[in-house]
Amino acid sequence: MKIFAYGIREDEKTSLENWEQANPNVEVGYTDKTLTPETADLANGASGVVTLQTTPYDRESLEKLNNLGIKNISIRNVGYDNFDFNDLKDFDMKLSNVPVYSPNAIAEHAVLMVGRLLRRIPEVDKKFDNGDFTWAPTIGKEYREQTVGVIGTGHIGRVAIQMLQGFGAKVIAYDVYHNDSIEKQGLYVDTLDELYAQSDVITLHVPLTSDNAYMIDDNAIAKMKDGVYLINCARGELISNDALIRGLDSGKIAGAGLDVLDHENNVFGKNWGSIEKLPDPIIKNIAERENVILTPHNAFYTETAVRNMIEVSFDSNKDLIEGKIPDTLVFSKK
Ligand code: NAD
Ligand code: COI
Repeated sequence: MKIFAYGIREDEKTSLENWEQANPNVEVGYTDKTLTPETADLANGASGVVTLQTTPYDRESLEKLNNLGIKNISIRNVGYDNFDFNDLKDFDMKLSNVPVYSPNAIAEHAVLMVGRLLRRIPEVDKKFDNGDFTWAPTIGKEYREQTVGVIGTGHIGRVAIQMLQGFGAKVIAYDVYHNDSIEKQGLYVDTLDELYAQSDVITLHVPLTSDNAYMIDDNAIAKMKDGVYLINCARGELISNDALIRGLDSGKIAGAGLDVLDHENNVFGKNWGSIEKLPDPIIKNIAERENVILTPHNAFYTETAVRNMIEVSFDSNKDLIEGKIPDTLVFSKK
């Protein structure tokens, strides 16, 4: 049995070698390149593919894998919004993900963004860089005075809630499906509008679907409190960049913590040398602001997460090749 992996980074190689040692009957091949029509043929001879990328999995790449007889795809991450399931169906492919490699990694990132915005740390850092060791005007706010609205109470949202409560924040939550533990605490509001109206801080932890793309638009922002803080560690396409800029310009939005951004692939993943050189004017506009914390989709990026992403994705791919149905299965035609 052979598994071929795309987009393998240096920091994944120890975990990959450990998996190979534990699975001597599986031949593993890999490349640092992502899966594209140009790289699909590298998987020739494999029965399954393990992959991770934020760019779309285009039909042509999947068709090429299909022509090589490859039907089993395992992503090393959670979100599968960059697949078109019609393609998987047409090629009769199975897809697995790694649903819980480390919810803490992403929740910590989001909750730390909240704290950094509340204490105006980006502004304090800038003053410090300029040799200004005075206090004003960066007076901060405390978590315990904030109502934080958590949208999405799945694996990540629930850990974020625990962490926010640990800091003393009042948490309210919205989800299309209610989780028992969050329900028992009485945290759910019935509508997004209620959450918008009551929250000082809003953090997004929902998958991107055809129903919720650009859910945070001008209309939604208008329903929020003046001076709201927005956190997005879920998917960039949940927030309209234009609406975000208008909200920041008007002061309606006091600050934003963004690990993901609409059109992030225009800038993320490359060292540009300076913000000045960013080729996307809208992202540059957002990145230049003192009240915006922008991170390059690295909320997931911890040692624990990376180790689990390798182990679980390769285990799942092996299961798929052997005809077993892993509990990480995301799509199968049958
Ligand atoms: P999850 O499936 O455990 O939870 C998602 C929750 O969102 C579920 O409770 C679901 O009922 C709810 N939901 C779905 N659609 C909704 C909607 N329209 N409105 C309200 N609630 C809705 O997923 P998770 O592990 O918590 O991850 C959430 C998302 O975070 C992932 O889908 C992924 O896009 C993103 N993510 C980002 C990173 C990162 O590095 N920035 C890493 C992992 C995951
Ligand atoms: C995910 O796991 O869904 C992420 O967003 C992490 C990223 C490496 C794709």
